[in-house]
Amino acid sequence: MSADEPFSLIIFGASGDLTRRKLMPALWSLYAGRVLPEPFAIIATARTGMADDEFRVRTRAAIGEFARIQPPSEAVWERFAGALSYVAGDPADASLYPRLERALKDAEATRSGPANRLFYCATPPSLYDDITANLGASSARTRSTGSTTTSARRPSRTSSSSGSPTASSSLCGTGITWPRSS
Ligand SMILES: NC(=O)c1ccc[n+]([C@@H]2O[C@H](COP(=O)([O-])OP(=O)(O)OC[C@H]3O[C@@H](n4cnc5c(N)ncnc54)[C@H](OP(=O)(O)O)[C@@H]3O)[C@@H](O)[C@H]2O)c1
Repeated sequence: MSADEPFSLIIFGASGDLTRRKLMPALWSLYAGRVLPEPFAIIATARTGMADDEFRVRTRAAIGEFARIQPPSEAVWERFAGALSYVAGDPADASLYPRLERALKDAEATRSGPANRLFYCATPPSLYDDITANLGASSARTRSTGSTTTSARRPSRTSSSSGSPTASSSLCGTGITWPRSS
């Protein structure tokens, strides 16, 4: 995909610290800096039960705490928050993936252009195999009309052998690197 195409980002482990402290503040900062490709959808998922609105409220609090740029107005925040949704489920359970596919389709139905999909694993590395296997078997990955990419952030405090990313990518701080489709 090119840098200005619409995209959907699915974040596994979206109830966790990495998402709260780094990912969502970084994505907001890109949006605020007008360098996040639009339109976009961010579909967050984890086992913790949560409605879309609760994820938005949590994200707003995380941005207040960790982002360098704060929303300049409620209207700007609401525009960003409108792109956020949450699907509760266990990433190791195949039954989650049709629900993610539905959420992707709903997001993609509201826009034109290729259905670029980025799957980001903000989970313990022990879940990467289950997630990639379930994605491989699901239409969420195979029915995209654009590129699909699966990424993870290397654990910072443990050996890299158990936490190698499935594709090279960095999604934190000031920028997103979009790897080639995997
Ligand atoms: N936090 C950071 O700043 C940071 C920095 C660099 C790298 N990392 C790496 O990023 C990864 C995530 O770290 P984190 O700090 O966000 O961890 P965390 O706060 O424990 O969050 C992990 C996420 O994975 C889900 N999860 C945990 N165990 C699970 C299981 N057995 N089955 C299904 N889902 C499970 C949790 O959600 P549910 O329980 O709701 O499912 C949660 O959303 C780790 O590999 C860590 O080393 C983190």
